[in-house]
Parts: sequence; structure tokens; C-alpha cells
Amino acid sequence: MKARQLALEQLKDLKVVVTGGAGFIGSHLVSKLLDLGNQVTAVDSFLHGNKLELPKNSRHLSLCQGDIRDYDFIRSALAGQDLVFHLAAVVGVEYTQMSPLEVLDVEIQGTANVLKAAAAHNIKRFVAASSSEVYGDSPVVMDEEQPMSPRSTYAIAKLAGEAYCEAFYQSHGLEYTCLRYFNVYGPRQDERFVIPSFVNRVLSGEPIIIYGDGRQTRDFTFIDDAVVMTLLAAQNPEAKCQRINIGTGRMVTINELADLIVKIIDARDTAKPEHVNYDRKRPQAVEVFNRRAGVARARRLLQYTPGTTLVSGIKKYLDWRGQK
Ligand SMILES: NC(=O)c1ccc[n+]([C@@H]2O[C@H](COP(=O)([O-])OP(=O)(O)OC[C@H]3O[C@@H](n4cnc5c(N)ncnc54)[C@H](O)[C@@H]3O)[C@@H](O)[C@H]2O)c1
Repeated sequence: MKARQLALEQLKDLKVVVTGGAGFIGSHLVSKLLDLGNQVTAVDSFLHGNKLELPKNSRHLSLCQGDIRDYDFIRSALAGQDLVFHLAAVVGVEYTQMSPLEVLDVEIQGTANVLKAAAAHNIKRFVAASSSEVYGDSPVVMDEEQPMSPRSTYAIAKLAGEAYCEAFYQSHGLEYTCLRYFNVYGPRQDERFVIPSFVNRVLSGEPIIIYGDGRQTRDFTFIDDAVVMTLLAAQNPEAKCQRINIGTGRMVTINELADLIVKIIDARDTAKPEHVNYDRKRPQAVEVFNRRAGVARARRLLQYTPGTTLVSGIKKYLDWRGQK
């Protein structure tokens, strides 16, 4: 614990940019960086609003509203900075299915712009958000070295983003780390995502809606663990030019998740979940059925094991909702 705190404190003198800084993961990352004492610039187009929850007049935070597809904008936002966390992206299965060109544009053109600006300003480390989606379906645990078989535009775009990072390292020496997040959840997450949407249904007395038979598995990572791992990836020289899974190595089925949420909320009268067919907005063809992170690389390089259980993470999420 003390060693981890010391590792994180090594970052505290750096000037940091977080693209997607007003989003779910980005806003938590910004809060943690401010707690550590960093000077932080949050870049965001506010596509889905602003999730930053900060004390007013936070002196160490600059907010830059703009689009990463605008090179001049991002180049000026990165001037004089040391470290970039690149999280801005178009997310969510339904939205990304309906807007594939926007997904490609933001992920490919946007990421290329942020990398180009980072190289121009001699940024020390570039940490990019990738996704477990790059693996496609996997019969067992997803390890970083296994063949990729992305199934959706979003997954292909994320893989292209990773390839761009490697290309900029080769051509400009820009050191990067790509983090493949596995279903991060917690306070501030949009209600379109699985845990917030199940909680909503239960709290409003409606049955949970599950696509397919509910036997698909997911590896849920609580936001605080994901944020610490993200920071450790930036700090640790061993993580340079690596792709690293950010997950727990534990999986649950969607049916089990639904039961767990009903039990934690103690809503015994809730109707049984409704299983519905996949549809145009959520096609079965892009569903990744088995998802469980291989965590050996994260343990070795980041020396961190996510400690929040799914039960305690869901309780923390409910506490946050209760305070809203
Ligand atoms: N949350 C997860 O479970 C998860 C899983 C895998 C990967 N990821 C990746 O992690 C990153 C953060 O995800 P999140 O869950 O916080 O999503 P989010 O939607 O809450 O945050 C993304 C932010 O990017 C901003 N953005 C979108 N397009 C932009 C543009 N063109 N210019 C500037 N800003 C733009 C949005 O306004 C938003 O605030 C994303 O890259 C996502 O693909 C997240």
C-alpha cells in the first residue's frame, strides 16, 4: 500500500492532460490526479455532458472544451505538458452501432491528432484507453498475446488506435502504454451501461432486461481499481510500449449479475428478468460472449491486483446514487 502510494507520488510534479476528462473514467482520473497534487488539463467535447465532480475553483484544473479531431485545438491543449492520458472516445454498444463512422473518425483521426500533438510537444508518456473488445470472442481467458478478432467497428477502431501508438513510438520515439479495460463500473457511469441500467430497473420496480440467455460472461472492474492501474501504467517504466489488460480475472454471467443486484437492493418482489432477443441496435453478431481478463501481465508490470469485489463495488455505486 505504502509502495503504491510512493509510486503514484512520483507522478505528482508532472503536468497532465486527460482527454475525455469529463467522461466516466476520465473524471475519476482527473480527481485522483488533483488529489495527488498534479496540474491537470481535462480535454473534452462534452458529448455526454460533464461528469467532473470537483470542489469549485479547483486551481489546479484547466478545462479545455473542444474536439480531438481538430488538430490545432489539441495541439494547443498539449503545449507545455508532460503526460497524456488519452481516453476520449465514442462509447456504448448502441451508440457505436448506430454511428460507426463517428466511432472511426474519433478513434482514428482523433487519436492520430493527439499522438501527433504529443510527439510535437515531446510528451514523456502517452497512456491510451483501449478495450477488451479487441479480442473478440475467446473460449478461455483473454491474454494480451493471443490473436485478435475484433467483431465491431468500435473494436476495430480501438485496435487501430493501438497500432497508431506503436507507429508513433517507432517513428517519433513517443513512449506509450495501451490499457485494455474490461467493463469498468462505478459512480458517475452513464445509465446506458449494464450495472447502472439494471440498478435503475430494480429501483423503479421493473424487471431487468437481458439480451439473449444471460449466460454471457463479463469481468467487472471497479472504477477506483481501474484508476490506480491507469496511473501505475503511466509511472512504471516496465509498462512502456505494452498493452495491458485492466480487469480482475474474475467473471460473472449477466444472469448472476442481475440476481446479485436484486439481492443487494433487497428487492425480493422484483419480477424475474426478461430475456429479449438481440436487435438492430444491439446485434448478436457483435456480442462477445465470454470475457475474462488474463491478469498476469498487469500483476507483473503494475504490481497491482484489483481489490474491490463486485458486491462491494455495487454497494459503493448504490451509496453514490443515494447521495445524489
Ligand atoms: N467504461 C468502460 O467499461 C470501458 C471499457 C473499455 C474501454 N473503455 C475506454 O475507456 C475510455 C473512457 O471510457 P468511459 O467509459 O469513461 O466513456 P465516457 O463516454 O464516459 O467518456 C469518454 C469521453 O470522451 C469525450 N469525447 C468523445 N468524443 C470526443 C471528441 N471527438 N473530442 C473530445 N472528447 C470527446 C466524451 O464527451 C466523454 O466525456 C474510452 O476510450 C473507452 O473506449 C471504457
